[in-house]
Amino acid sequence: MSIQVLDKTFVPFLTSEMIQDKIEQLAMQISADYLGRNPLFIGILNGSFMFASDLYKRISTPSTISFIKLASYKGTTSTGTVITAIGLEEDLSGRDVVLIEDIVDTGKTLSAFIPSLQKMSPASIKICTLLQKPEALQHELQVDYVGFEIPNKFVVGYGLDYDGYGRNSQEIYQLA
Ligand code: XMP
Ligand code: MG
Repeated sequence: MSIQVLDKTFVPFLTSEMIQDKIEQLAMQISADYLGRNPLFIGILNGSFMFASDLYKRISTPSTISFIKLASYKGTTSTGTVITAIGLEEDLSGRDVVLIEDIVDTGKTLSAFIPSLQKMSPASIKICTLLQKPEALQHELQVDYVGFEIPNKFVVGYGLDYDGYGRNSQEIYQLA
């Protein structure tokens, strides 16, 4: 059944069961890859809060989790858009960091943010995203764990929003 969010109509795209099954697979793979390495998961707010929660519940290796918000501002022309993290208090040095995103679209946000994360001397940085729009990617970005590759259409639900609304559903909907 389609839903209405503000002025737009969205149609069902990924069921709750499809999402949860995929998260189970991702969690098993990540738990195996990071066995004995004490990874630090960093959920990127707001969009990833549901995904980060469901993923982290299924991670079976000792690890910690934290959340940040990303704020962007225009840097000088040579630096382009600068993205800084709000709320990052952890010491990243020597940690294996796994960023948790809801969706990678153009890749602009993460490709602009990762250099500042690298300055904090983590042992490694990997990206785990529930959704990726491969056709939309415009920046050099290696995404290590991808739940679903999706067409280049706007989606809402399961944490993803349209102007702040539509996050509160267990399914993901696509613009009709
Ligand atoms: P970039 O282009 O930097 O974008 O990879 C990542 C951020 O853009 C938002 N985004 C979306 N949000 N439905 C949403 O609700 C979408 O289809 C969508 N595409 C991009 C999102 O905030 C993500 O973190
Ligand atoms: Mg987001």
